[in-house]
Amino acid sequence: MNTLDLIAHGPVIPVIVLDRVEDAVPLARALVAGGVKVLEVTLRTPAALKCIEAMIAEVPEAIVGAGTVRSVDDARAVQALGCQFAVSPGYTSEIGRACLDIGLPLLPGVSTASEVMMANADGYRFLKLFPATAVGGVNLLKAFASPFHDVVFCPTGGITLETAPQFLSLPNVKVCGGSWLTPADAVKNGDWARITELARQTHTLRA
Ligand code: 3PG
Repeated sequence: MNTLDLIAHGPVIPVIVLDRVEDAVPLARALVAGGVKVLEVTLRTPAALKCIEAMIAEVPEAIVGAGTVRSVDDARAVQALGCQFAVSPGYTSEIGRACLDIGLPLLPGVSTASEVMMANADGYRFLKLFPATAVGGVNLLKAFASPFHDVVFCPTGGITLETAPQFLSLPNVKVCGGSWLTPADAVKNGDWARITELARQTHTLRA
């Protein structure tokens, strides 16, 4: 698996934050039912690792990755659980090289030209632009297109169903990420039908 393979599954990668392990499997099933099977579960809560474990065990159709991977230890831990990919909010060569060494596909976060260059130097050409909207959004991606003509981006941060088309129409954007598919209140209330519907809506978007 290569992170670029993720693009084939649809134009949006949901960024998932879970507080309760019991929500993990129904949430993953709701997204898969809506045709979204690449799932980024962020390491932002104490429950995250157990949620990942449950999804991998019980929702085999899902392609489960870990987000908010900030250290080599995080990368090793999520690989040991069976994550198929990792996403980091920023870039360090230490984490980039460690993921290459252990064979964990990494979608590394960048927000500046220098970070793009550092990630490129370690062999990464598919990068997450984070936090996309805050650092310049569509205009920044347009400005990156010429100097970084061989780099493609997954912008994430502040994107919605309404703004996603602006990002996905750019030649250097192949997919975007966002938490709008998994609203906190829907997860809290177990409103899985709403989440399936939000997942379905992403198929109207095209990269
Ligand atoms: C991320 O980690 O990629 C972001 O927190 C997702 O951003 P959003 O919540 O603004 O979609």
